[in-house]
Amino acid sequence: MLPVAKRDFELWLAANGIAKAIRFAALVSTLLLVAEFLLALSAQAQEKPLSNPVAGKPGAIREGASLFRSNCSPCHGLNAKGGGRGPDLSANRWTHGSSDADIFRTITQGVPGTEMPANGFEDSEVWAIIAYLRSLSPPKQAVSGDRVKGEKIFAGSGCFACHMVKGHGGLLGPDLSRVGASRSAAYLTDSVREPSKDLSDGMLDPNNHWGLPLVYDTVTVVTADGRRITGIVKNEDTFSVQLLDTDQKLQFFLMKNIRQVIHERKSLMPAYSEQMLSQGALQDLVAYLQSLQAD
Ligand code: HEC
Ligand code: HEC
Repeated sequence: MLPVAKRDFELWLAANGIAKAIRFAALVSTLLLVAEFLLALSAQAQEKPLSNPVAGKPGAIREGASLFRSNCSPCHGLNAKGGGRGPDLSANRWTHGSSDADIFRTITQGVPGTEMPANGFEDSEVWAIIAYLRSLSPPKQAVSGDRVKGEKIFAGSGCFACHMVKGHGGLLGPDLSRVGASRSAAYLTDSVREPSKDLSDGMLDPNNHWGLPLVYDTVTVVTADGRRITGIVKNEDTFSVQLLDTDQKLQFFLMKNIRQVIHERKSLMPAYSEQMLSQGALQDLVAYLQSLQAD
């Protein structure tokens, strides 16, 4: 009995060993197939069309506009004109590359370290959004102002009192060192002529790489003895308010010591009328502001 059983076992072992070997080989080739498939996928990802297949198509522009309204407007504003939390995308000025492929990448991968998120859209949806954004760009227009003159006007109009440019200037308003990269000429013109037009609560400084919330909320504090101190709120809670006054001194008040906190709902920045700044001077100033880009 035993020899037979032993032989059977040896036979079984041989057969089973082969089966195992076959299964192993099958596994290896499956793995190879998977690897090959992944490689093909990534090659395909790199072979994305470099330009927008639906550029200028009215249907795609409409689809892009509606995708934009629901997904992007909260940060980039209605009509992509720039909102409190994201830059103007309508002016054909791009910090992260201006080609279709660059913008495609920015939209799908986001901008790491900023509020700009990665997005999981279908390719066709991303192209539709790009078609929409391109449809907003004004035809190329030579900047009519003189940048060099504009720089002198900036220095001579008291702008440095409140604005920092490349490490020099005041703190009451946003740092303008990169403002040309994120704001259109139209926005910049409005900012100077009608600063209170685009005010928003909890505005984020789009020129700020760290994405810190910088709020430019003009507030007047009325103290118990009737003094009024105006400035930009830096911090406000139930018990206290802290503001940077117009002399750029940090002031701290306990709520119990003050009569009233008035949120002005208007910019601390003076509106520069035509008497203060001629149309020509404004164009030079805007040309200068537009030249302030990432260094
Ligand atoms: C939570 C806010 C937020 C949302 C939502 C958001 N973005 Fe942005 N986006 C930003 C910010 C902030 C930046 C600027 C990043 C930087 O500092 O360079 C940006 C930058 C960009 C840029 C690069 C602009 C350039 O100058 O190169 C593009 C393109 C863009 N966003 C498209 C979109 C689109 C399209 C959507 C909707 C699918 C979207 N964003 C949604 C905040 C946002
Ligand atoms: C008394 C302080 C003050 C002065 C002077 C001042 N600004 Fe402002 N500016 C501000 C404040 C505060 C804001 C932010 C609130 C707002 O949008 O009005 C601002 C906003 C801006 C913005 C918009 C920036 C952005 O990205 O949204 C621009 C551009 C600007 N100022 C340019 C100028 C120029 C040019 C001058 C000189 C002609 C000037 N400012 C003078 C306080 C000032």
